[in-house]
Amino acid sequence: MRNNESWEPADKDNSLSEHEKKQMNRGSSGQTKVARIEDSLAPLLEEALELQAELVGLRRHLHRNPELSLEETETSQTVLSVLRELPLDIRTNVGGYGIVADLNGEGEGPTIALRADMDALPIQEETDLPYASEIPGKMHACGHDAHTAILVGAAKLLSRKRDKLSGRVRFLFQCAEEINQGARAMIEDGALDGVDEIYGLHNLPTLAAGKVATRYGALMGSVDRIEVTIEGRGGHGAIPNESIDPIVAASAVVMGLQTAVSREISPFDPAVVTIGSIYGGHANNVIPHRVELTGTVRTFQPRVQEGMEAMLRRLIESICEGYRCKAELRYIRQVPVLVNHDACVTHVEQTLDGLMPIESRIEAAPTMAGEDFSLYVERIPGCFFWIGSGPEENAEQAYGLHHPKFDLNEECLGHGAAALAGIAFSRLL
Ligand code: NI
Repeated sequence: MRNNESWEPADKDNSLSEHEKKQMNRGSSGQTKVARIEDSLAPLLEEALELQAELVGLRRHLHRNPELSLEETETSQTVLSVLRELPLDIRTNVGGYGIVADLNGEGEGPTIALRADMDALPIQEETDLPYASEIPGKMHACGHDAHTAILVGAAKLLSRKRDKLSGRVRFLFQCAEEINQGARAMIEDGALDGVDEIYGLHNLPTLAAGKVATRYGALMGSVDRIEVTIEGRGGHGAIPNESIDPIVAASAVVMGLQTAVSREISPFDPAVVTIGSIYGGHANNVIPHRVELTGTVRTFQPRVQEGMEAMLRRLIESICEGYRCKAELRYIRQVPVLVNHDACVTHVEQTLDGLMPIESRIEAAPTMAGEDFSLYVERIPGCFFWIGSGPEENAEQAYGLHHPKFDLNEECLGHGAAALAGIAFSRLL
């Protein structure tokens, strides 16, 4: 229902720029910008659903052939084979096997980036799907195959509307998200250069397909990795007084870290310290020389993440000293808290409400799981949100992300493509 009737002002002012004239023409159609956006969004979902079969085919191909982080050669070639048919400026091997593809609109305007991740996980798939992973020990158990197909769909949809865009859309096909390296590497390789805003989504199998979940502020936790080496002096298990036992010290460290979380951090500031592995000793009657621990640290406030390293270092070193052991902590910061920008969340919500019934959108619960999309929104404004990929009934009982039986409702593909395309489109109208 867009009114395309042209309008010539009686006293035509030649000092107006082309852009201003375009704005005036638009204004004269009697439509507000909001109405224009609504009219333009309405057909997008329908157009996306027409691509559904193609997106399902692409996603299943990727699902059969998962590639781990930093190994995404075939995946990026598959994506490129589609992108090369579109009017895009393409850069390959960005920060690894990442792809940056620009769609330049007809008019001037901002650059809006849309991002998908492409890597799989070292998990043996346990589904009976006809398109289950054909690579032993590797699986798209986080749905990044779907994210990739969704972004390809968005690129197709937006390419058709290139003449209506004032500005540029940058499609970021990111490598190595699962090991928290891809976003950083792509940023260092210029993926964000000239970008004004960035948007991305993640599927959520415990939310029914057709629904979306958004959240202002912090959405996902920070991720840090710790590696601790505790050194004592090995000896006979029967004569502990002649040894220094690192196993006892390590046990005290594990317990001490939990106490630190509950006693030193406000109960209103969520924080998690999980020790995920302990290695030390071989024989039942020998005190080993050394114990090694690894763990993960999650927080939900940048200032809490800030203080974690010093707190853990003090505790680990002083506990080990008390037990006459020597401790060494390697504290590796991986990704910050993912904090959405308010104006971008509002934009996503308005767009989604224009695409699908308003009751489809719910408020997302915060999660301590991490996402390296946080590195993008640490630098420029943006918004990350969830798109339902679960069954219509009892979605909350579906297998979660990273589960060997994880499966997603492919209806999310068309919805996701329409959502991402709509977010960029309505921003560049
Ligand atoms: Ni994921």
